[in-house]
Amino acid sequence: MARTDLVIQNIKIAVENKPIVHGVSLRISPGKIHVIMGPNGSGKSTLASTLMGHPSYTVTGGSAKIGRTNLLDLPPEERAKRGLFLAFQYPLEIAGVSLSHFLRTAYNASHTQASLSMLEFRRILDMAMKELKMDATFASRDLNAGFSGGEKKKAEVLQMRVLKPRFVLCDETDSGLDIDALKIVARGIKKTVEEGAGALVITHYPRLLDYLQPDVVSVMVDGRIVDAGESDLVKAIERGGYEQYRKVAHA
Ligand SMILES: Nc1ncnc2c1ncn2[C@@H]1O[C@H](COP(=O)(O)OP(=O)(O)OP(=O)(O)O)[C@@H](O)[C@H]1O
Ligand SMILES: [Mg+2]
Repeated sequence: MARTDLVIQNIKIAVENKPIVHGVSLRISPGKIHVIMGPNGSGKSTLASTLMGHPSYTVTGGSAKIGRTNLLDLPPEERAKRGLFLAFQYPLEIAGVSLSHFLRTAYNASHTQASLSMLEFRRILDMAMKELKMDATFASRDLNAGFSGGEKKKAEVLQMRVLKPRFVLCDETDSGLDIDALKIVARGIKKTVEEGAGALVITHYPRLLDYLQPDVVSVMVDGRIVDAGESDLVKAIERGGYEQYRKVAHA
């Protein structure tokens, strides 16, 4: 796997002409975990969805490059082909498309050089489902339809484990999980990173970070990165909350 960073420079994003993200720069490196924390409504999901190419968001400046390629110039499927993956904060339910069919189609679309036979694909899917302690029946159920909140989050991590992306964006993948599921999901993210992917992990909960041991923690408030550090920054946030950063964001 190429050891190229995903470099986000001075990205500015608007929704319906309202500026939401005001110039954010971040680096996501292969084999490393970069965490973003920040209050509700600060623009974290906006950033993640924009990186993946969600049409509701307008990029008004900046870039997100892997090597010389600016992902922001490409349609979402080309971003996926280059190895970008987003685990949604609110995964969509897709009636009429089974989880396994969805995943095989996504796999073959993003690995055009190495499409898998049905048998090979099933083997990879079964292994990943076992790793995540997901019942085998989920494979034939419609994607996320009727899945509980926690099951949907596990299904997002399952996609990540099967698709083997180069860069994963996890948007609150830990929210709504029970204690056992949280450990399993954290292990799935960690393994993906140990296999060489770079991760941008958005979370509200220090508990996830006990399992993940992030390399960098950035704090996003009102559409700006207002602080960055290592894991100990999380303790400072727990003590002081986000109010301490509001002045910085508006300086
Ligand atoms: N499609 C949209 N239409 C209108 N407003 C939007 C849209 N998407 C985001 N916003 C607004 O942009 C701001 C940032 O939202 P965003 O979802 O990025 O926050 P967040 O940091 O992910 O918050 P949370 O921690 O609650 O998930 C919010 O004020 C939100 O209402
Ligand atoms: Mg969000």
